[in-house]
Amino acid sequence: MATKILVTGGTGYIGSHTVVELQNAGYEVVIIDNLSNSNIEVLDGIEAITGRRPDFVKGDVTDMGTLRKLFEEHADIKGIINFAASKAVGESVQKPLLYYRNNLVSLLNLLELMPEFGVKGIVFSSSCTVYGEPDVNPIDETAPYKPATSPYGNTKQISEEIITDFVHAGAPVKSVILRYFNPVGAHPSALIGELPNGVPNNLVPYLTQTAAGIRKELTVFGNDYDTPDGSCVRDFIDVVDLAKAHVTAMHRMLENDSTDPVEIFNIGTGRGLSVLELIDSFQRATGVKVPYKIGARREGDIEKIWAEPTKANTVLGWKAEVPVDDTMRNAWAWQCRLAEKK
Ligand code: WQD
Repeated sequence: MATKILVTGGTGYIGSHTVVELQNAGYEVVIIDNLSNSNIEVLDGIEAITGRRPDFVKGDVTDMGTLRKLFEEHADIKGIINFAASKAVGESVQKPLLYYRNNLVSLLNLLELMPEFGVKGIVFSSSCTVYGEPDVNPIDETAPYKPATSPYGNTKQISEEIITDFVHAGAPVKSVILRYFNPVGAHPSALIGELPNGVPNNLVPYLTQTAAGIRKELTVFGNDYDTPDGSCVRDFIDVVDLAKAHVTAMHRMLENDSTDPVEIFNIGTGRGLSVLELIDSFQRATGVKVPYKIGARREGDIEKIWAEPTKANTVLGWKAEVPVDDTMRNAWAWQCRLAEKK
């Protein structure tokens, strides 16, 4: 019988790509999502790609009653992947309590119910934001936390600590914490991708919307950083590669391969690319010109950060594979498909 996995936030951007990879790997998936930042049609995309429609519960993970009912109805859930969280850095500064409630209460609820319902492991979505501005690049998992610069970033640090404290207190659960760098791109089928709400804050959706003529011009936030071309440097990780890391992590926890009950892995390519280099890659891969100008620095931006992914490569057995030009082509195909649907 297929192993059943609960994916919270499974209709969201990274969640939906992960559901596809889980189903492709033979897992059975139940999604819970409140659709606050996603769309029910995402299930059609998942079904079209995998030939299988995952079970879906519309509900909020911060609501213990809903969650308990879900576990009672699906008593055979063996693992959880927790994507149900708010992720906009700027909004978190405006609405800190919303972020603490959404991101922390949902995690507490899940952890509390895991032992009761015999759920063995949880994969948690963390972020390279826990490192702040690195003292060295590439940065590995042993680097200390830097003070969080937003409530969003703080929720990631606190969540990692909650999980670690719970497991170290002897709870019969395991966890793999994945620290994502900058997830970008879309499924190569263009059937699922990112659905930004309103004006995008992140680079790639802004870039693809500009290329599509929805936005007049992309602003590159600063070209006077201490980097080779002056623009910020990031580790852009393809969303399908990232999704596959969750499947590997789940397998490791459930098959008892993990050596430590809580393991932390950087999920990145190990390659730093500048904002200007990423724009170049997009233009080269798609043949589409992106109008852009150089603007002022954006407050709170990190100058440069990229991953040391050796631990994920060797211990987890996962490696980023998709070339960045392919990622940009996929992001563009998805943008074009969104335009068709309108
Ligand atoms: C990337 C680079 C911008 C928009 C954030 C979160 C992080 C993670 C991913 C998510 C920066 C530049 C951007 C634009 C630009 N969490 N840029 N013009 O800030 O690295 O990371 O998202 O859920 O925790 O902090 O990502 O895509 O916003 O920016 O020049 O219009 O692109 O200055 O250097 P960031 P981003």
